[in-house]
Amino acid sequence: MKIKSLSVSKGDFNLQDYNQMYGSFDWTEVEKEFSWFETGKVNVAYEAIDRHADSFRKNKVALYYQDASRNEKYTFKEMKERSNQVANVLKEIGVEKGDRVFIFMPRSPELYFAALGTIKVGAIVGPLFEAFMQAAVKDRLEDSGAKVLITTPDLLQRVPFEELPRLQHIFLVGENIQEEGIYLDFNRRIQQAGKKFDIEWVDRQDGLILHYTSGSTGKPKGVLHVHNAMLQHYQTAKWVLDLKEDDIYWCTADPGWVTGTSYGIFGPWLMGASNVIIGGRFSPESWYQAIEDYGVTVWYSAPTAFRMLMSAGDELIKRYDLSTLRHMASVGEPLNPEVVHWGIKVFNNRIHDTWWMTETGAQLICNYPCMEIKPGSMGKPLPGIVAAIVDNNGDVLPPYRMGNLAIRKGWPSMMSEIWNNHEKYESCFLKDEWYVSGDSAYMDEDGYFWFQGRVDDVIMTSGERVGPFEVESKLVEHTAVAEAGVIGKPDPVRGEIIKAFIALREGYTASDELIEEIRQFVKKGLAAHAAPREIEFRDKLPKTRSGKIMRRVLKAWELNLPVGDLSTMED
Ligand code: WT7
Repeated sequence: MKIKSLSVSKGDFNLQDYNQMYGSFDWTEVEKEFSWFETGKVNVAYEAIDRHADSFRKNKVALYYQDASRNEKYTFKEMKERSNQVANVLKEIGVEKGDRVFIFMPRSPELYFAALGTIKVGAIVGPLFEAFMQAAVKDRLEDSGAKVLITTPDLLQRVPFEELPRLQHIFLVGENIQEEGIYLDFNRRIQQAGKKFDIEWVDRQDGLILHYTSGSTGKPKGVLHVHNAMLQHYQTAKWVLDLKEDDIYWCTADPGWVTGTSYGIFGPWLMGASNVIIGGRFSPESWYQAIEDYGVTVWYSAPTAFRMLMSAGDELIKRYDLSTLRHMASVGEPLNPEVVHWGIKVFNNRIHDTWWMTETGAQLICNYPCMEIKPGSMGKPLPGIVAAIVDNNGDVLPPYRMGNLAIRKGWPSMMSEIWNNHEKYESCFLKDEWYVSGDSAYMDEDGYFWFQGRVDDVIMTSGERVGPFEVESKLVEHTAVAEAGVIGKPDPVRGEIIKAFIALREGYTASDELIEEIRQFVKKGLAAHAAPREIEFRDKLPKTRSGKIMRRVLKAWELNLPVGDLSTMED
């Protein structure tokens, strides 16, 4: 393996800048970098693609695409033309500003042309993850009142269009499509469409994208983001992802989830970066190969992926040239300190944790290239963002007190609405000042935030407060443990006891000795009260696509309760 010698990636954004702007950054400064500051004409697709296509970046590769059967690349100029063709086709069938156009298909270049084309006509994109089954697809199309769906012949059987009276057109992306009734041939139509399009300029507060996400109760909710979010997509791609002109950037997330759009479409292209998209399934070999093939320099992925790579072993890494990697970042769930140490060991690179969520639209609390990392901490708020730990009344708590992680409302990429559910939207705020994330955390004396769990996951055992993440992190440090999920199990004496579900690494088998060894390992490494009293081995743990262990599913297993909505679960 070739690796570069730098152990810390150094951004242009330095600590002094950070400290100066902390809490006081004025987002108008970012607006000035875009023509809409003067013209008042806004459209993210223009800023992400056309602006570069009309500049020195015209022939720069915007999209490198690869899966088992395709290997293609598109320049900014080509992206502009393809998305214009989609926009023309959509306009022709009557799609207007504010209409919802849903895209339900596996990753492919067409998916990206479709998303950008939708934005160019001023419509709202609704990305649907390809693994959704019929009920999940129906809920989302129904709730959003989607007018158009872009999908593939394979996925069509999961679209109950006769139960969706507001759905007027279905584009099929594939070969030999027969146009009939509401079905239209996507590829043929875009090939025949004009390559020029007059972009629909919108207001910065107009709808851009609608992501459905599950809460702890009820049906998934549609989180709406507006064009104004681009200010933060752009600025975080600069400060946090550290993107520069020559970077080859790879975000591993699917655009069915917010990471795959905010940082798989908007952030990198607003920066004019070359964006690598790899379709198909995960394997450690294919991922390392992708980094080598494209010479990836900046890599944004998730703890679950890093842990899978970690358990594939360090020998494997030696077969690839990963020397181009200069900056790595992570999102979706707590990044175990163990993984950070592994990153330094095998890539000679720090993995920078970033915290945000579907509702926040973009990164908010992060580790920056210029900053010291405290492994296990999510980092510090973005300049211009005020984060705090508040109690249930919305009063700010002092350092080290655990409470609700909250953000002062009004950042550029904050969700603008929950579709069809304004009441739910309002309920996310306290005192009309704080957006309450649903995560519990504390802040240390240096202003670093430490994730403790979702508010409802914290375990109380014999009067001791235990965050499941701490226990899980400790568990995965044990050589036999690949994945761990920890829950509180009701107990008549202790209130709750800690129960761990564990997936073992290859080559290890479950035994009473191993259980005892793991218990002792946590007892010794963390705290006696934090050691799981019960351990159960499973082949696989339930996880969301963004990689979070679904503790509520573990809890349901344990208590024999219904598991609830599983639409966000990894297949
Ligand atoms: C929840 C949001 C935003 C991209 C993917 C997830 C958890 C997210 C971290 C982190 C600990 C994290 C939180 C949050 N989460 N990032 N760096 N450390 N937890 O988006 O599906 O909307 O989930 O993911 O619990 O509330 P999402």
